[in-house]
Amino acid sequence: MPTYIPHSRTDGEENRGSRDSAASIPIPLMHNMPMGQLDLIAPVTGDVEVALTGKASDKATRHVDGRNTLNDLAGHEWLPETKSFFFQKGLGADHAHTEIERQHPAPFSFQDIARLVGFFTKSGHTVLDPFAGVGSTAKACALLGRKSIGIELSKRWHELSQQRLRVEAGLPRLDAHRLILGDARVVMPTLRPNSVDFVVTSPPYWAILNKKPDHKSLERVRRELATTYSTDKRDLGNMTDYGAFVDELVGVFLACGRVLKSKRYMAIIVSDFRHGTEYYSFHSDLIQRLKGAPIRRNSRLELQGVKVLLQNHKSLKPYGYPFAYVENVHHQYILIFRKQASAA
Ligand SMILES: C[S@@+](CC[C@H](N)C(=O)[O-])C[C@H]1O[C@@H](n2cnc3c(N)ncnc32)[C@H](O)[C@@H]1O
Repeated sequence: MPTYIPHSRTDGEENRGSRDSAASIPIPLMHNMPMGQLDLIAPVTGDVEVALTGKASDKATRHVDGRNTLNDLAGHEWLPETKSFFFQKGLGADHAHTEIERQHPAPFSFQDIARLVGFFTKSGHTVLDPFAGVGSTAKACALLGRKSIGIELSKRWHELSQQRLRVEAGLPRLDAHRLILGDARVVMPTLRPNSVDFVVTSPPYWAILNKKPDHKSLERVRRELATTYSTDKRDLGNMTDYGAFVDELVGVFLACGRVLKSKRYMAIIVSDFRHGTEYYSFHSDLIQRLKGAPIRRNSRLELQGVKVLLQNHKSLKPYGYPFAYVENVHHQYILIFRKQASAA
């Protein structure tokens, strides 16, 4: 197995994200969100109160522009979401709702996904996540009143995602959320073209979870938690060749492009990483492959922006000290593509 310099994705530290840094983040509209869940995200004040109740206690009544086909945000809510960065947000390690996500070695914060879903969709829209894990996207969608489709290879994570919707989102029935157990490469071609309003996903980052044990994975072993997704050969996180891995991933994203409606968006959350002495600029490799990539004959994916998701809460490790510069990678990239019609 290759050796990797320790690196982590969103999780990194137990229960990703800092409450402090999150305090300054504007919250997207939480339509249909049960109040009990909302206070996991922010105190019900200001914009959120207006969004929920329609009553303005300290602001003018909110107004969603009639021409807005993208989301349900008013102008003053839209603008801050166009910033090219935001701070990652987590629930807090001792929150009861971290129990399920903690089982997975690399979950994504449902609050960060909710922020993207809140910007790129309207209430009732359908969101696709081809690497669904323990269902952070589905949970965000449930709390925001969106429908979702999630594909996951591992039975264990698939079942936990169903449990998560029942327990954490309080759904007695999962009708609005189609959680599919299978290989994304096989399932994607079976989905209807031009049928989803937004794609958001955090894919495997090659085989970084199979690296030599570090302080983090050893701590998970001690707590009898999984350190890899699976031992399945179809798991893209078990591929040994980086080029072949990127090829497979690009294939899945182009298939997502086919399923995406015209002019809608796809957000891919990734990080760069190190393998031995080599630095892999994973995010730029994906951009090179996907920017302008054709989807069938009449459309293509265009890059619309790259957001940086800051993980300023993570503790610094003395990699390389005192001989060499070895980065503490404390951010992720959110690559935002749009499906556009190709010139005739
Ligand atoms: C980074 S995790 C996604 C975590 C998810 N965002 C969450 O918060 O739970 C990537 C997921 O892709 C899954 N996976 C790997 N290869 C796959 C494949 N060929 N088809 C579908 N899922 C796959 C892994 O099992 C893993 O759960």
